[in-house]
Amino acid sequence: MDDTPDALPDDEARLVELRALIAHHNHRYNDLDDPEISDADYDILMRELRGLEELHPELQTPDSPAEKVGGGVSATFAPVIHRVPMTSLDNAMDGGELDAWGERLLRGLAGQPTSFVCELKIDGLAMSLRYEHGVLVQAATRGDGRVGEDVTANIKTIGVIPHTLQAVGGVTVPEVLEVRGEVYMPLASFNALNAAAMEAGEKLLVNPRNAAAGSLRQKDSRITAKRSLSFWSYQLGEVVGGPEFTSHHETLEFLRALGFPVNPEVRQLSTVAEVAEFCAGWQEHRHDLDYDIDGCVVKVDDLAQREQLGFTSRAPRWAIAFKFPPEERTTLLRDIMISVGRTGRVTPFAVLEPVFVGGSTVGMSTLHNQDQVALKDVRPGDTVIVRKAGDVIPEVVGPVLSLRPEGSEPWVFPTTCPCPLQSELVRPEGEANITCIEVGCPFQRDQRIIYFASRGAMDIEGLGERTVMQLSQATRADGTSLVTTPADIYFLTVEDLLQLEGFATVSAERLVAAIQGSKARPLPRLLTALGIKHLGPSAAEGLSRAFGKLDAIMDAKEADLAMTEGLGGIIAASITRWFAVADNRAFIERLREAGVDFGNVVISRQPQVLAGKAVVVTGSVEGYTREEAEAAIKDRGGKSPGSVSKKTFAVVVGAEPGASKVTKATELAIPMLDEAGFAHLLDTGELPST
Ligand code: IVH
Repeated sequence: MDDTPDALPDDEARLVELRALIAHHNHRYNDLDDPEISDADYDILMRELRGLEELHPELQTPDSPAEKVGGGVSATFAPVIHRVPMTSLDNAMDGGELDAWGERLLRGLAGQPTSFVCELKIDGLAMSLRYEHGVLVQAATRGDGRVGEDVTANIKTIGVIPHTLQAVGGVTVPEVLEVRGEVYMPLASFNALNAAAMEAGEKLLVNPRNAAAGSLRQKDSRITAKRSLSFWSYQLGEVVGGPEFTSHHETLEFLRALGFPVNPEVRQLSTVAEVAEFCAGWQEHRHDLDYDIDGCVVKVDDLAQREQLGFTSRAPRWAIAFKFPPEERTTLLRDIMISVGRTGRVTPFAVLEPVFVGGSTVGMSTLHNQDQVALKDVRPGDTVIVRKAGDVIPEVVGPVLSLRPEGSEPWVFPTTCPCPLQSELVRPEGEANITCIEVGCPFQRDQRIIYFASRGAMDIEGLGERTVMQLSQATRADGTSLVTTPADIYFLTVEDLLQLEGFATVSAERLVAAIQGSKARPLPRLLTALGIKHLGPSAAEGLSRAFGKLDAIMDAKEADLAMTEGLGGIIAASITRWFAVADNRAFIERLREAGVDFGNVVISRQPQVLAGKAVVVTGSVEGYTREEAEAAIKDRGGKSPGSVSKKTFAVVVGAEPGASKVTKATELAIPMLDEAGFAHLLDTGELPST
């Protein structure tokens, strides 16, 4: 048993280690513009350090990186001393920490009433713009908070930043005015730059923040000028002369009046509960914006109260950054493997040391194709940046080159299929994909069965990847496989399934029933399940409506197929080609033999009155579950996204609606409908007349 009274020696060693680590990462981020870890991973280290320092005040040192803001100053740009330091902010990582900050603050104000200004935390670079007598004389980065770098020439290329200030509408221009804010790269610019880089086979930019940082560090400001940077102002630095302010919101109005861009989403709120709602709302909607945000910044509005609250050694007590959960983390790329799809397409994918990012744990991520792997040059053993933004699938952004193990070699695409047949893989001239062309490839066969049973196709509950793999490996007493085509699943018996590991009578009976039940699926699903190239669900719908029965489609002339609504020559040709293959015909006959319904056309389809329209549902609508209300919209051709945007046609507001959706709809003047309005919309596709 360990009877050490306390763990001090361990903690001390870890403290020393953490300080060195953090100093190293500060240097990489601030001086080299080439971070090795994501902001989120950095925050984790910093929190651990602060935690240990709080636990052991005796071990605190004045030069601890926990006390410092940012990093050093490079030799490329001249140093600028900030007359008013550019401090950092303390972070709240969740609602609980935000509440705790609120409580500390209210205690500090000893019961005085207060209010807040809530802003977006722009994920860019802090900048201080100095105007003397209304002329922009200097622009400086934050640096270590005390000394930054002179990037005036580059900043002057940013169109939204005024070079001179005019006294308009009774606003006096102070003798000295330092405007602080964030330089950022809009997502549209970032995506355009990366598309061009991809086209040219050049290295991709990791994220908009790094891209903005790199753009500002250019020695040639003509390059910066091409990067379409932008700026939001949110704070004053040194001010000499000019109007007196009593609140933060007044300073923002003043900045706006002088022509500075002030973010339109800024809100004045009076309680911590409202602040929490603002933060939660933006956490959900962060991707509705054309720029990256990584949280919200909450500031006490009253400037006299700010004075009263003051600063800790590193940050103001009157403000806090509410940080969203990270969407980027760094992790180890354990391996790159390939998978074979149902059409034989071979896709490389990353096997990662599992990492929690963007709200879920990511252990695997597609690398798309050979060229993508080469472009990103990710190699097994690399530390890689993994990104999962919103609903978007996780992505390996690129390697952290400074952490690449010595002697590592570029990854080479395998030349043979990973299946037991090990057939040769081919990449046809001019194509991006590498394919396994072996007709009998067992991996392709498994994938065809998995696809056949999947949600969008025959939707067979319990017949997922694992069970299909088990089935395809199992044999009967006579040595034949249990399944070789998707049609074989209809002949499986409870006894067959009982020989598979993990199956007992009840689960085997349930799966057999689910398989048998799927025989009655509507024709569009059956058509989709066949896995004919280019034939997706909507073309399958069109075909079903036009032809009514599988046999009619099978026997139709290519020209007749091509006339069908929603279909063109390519799909028609693909269908004819598919049905001409003897094995495919045999597969269809086996489905017929199994008793699969070849003509179940759902006649009760709704008129597509909402085609192309997005209708958001919030709260509970009488007579519908959330899913039913959304299904009713989709059945009529509409979309039902989870958030309100400019593109939303209408918002259906039921009982206890989400406040952020209602607020957004109000702001954007999107029509809001009650239950009766919803019924009218479903009937006609139109808004009710008021
Ligand atoms: S106020 C003393 N407001 O976040 C207050 N900062 O973690 C100084 N940031 O260095 C900052 N959006 O680079 C403020 N609306 C906003 C912000 C913001 C982004 C950045 C800024 C700052 C960092 C603090």
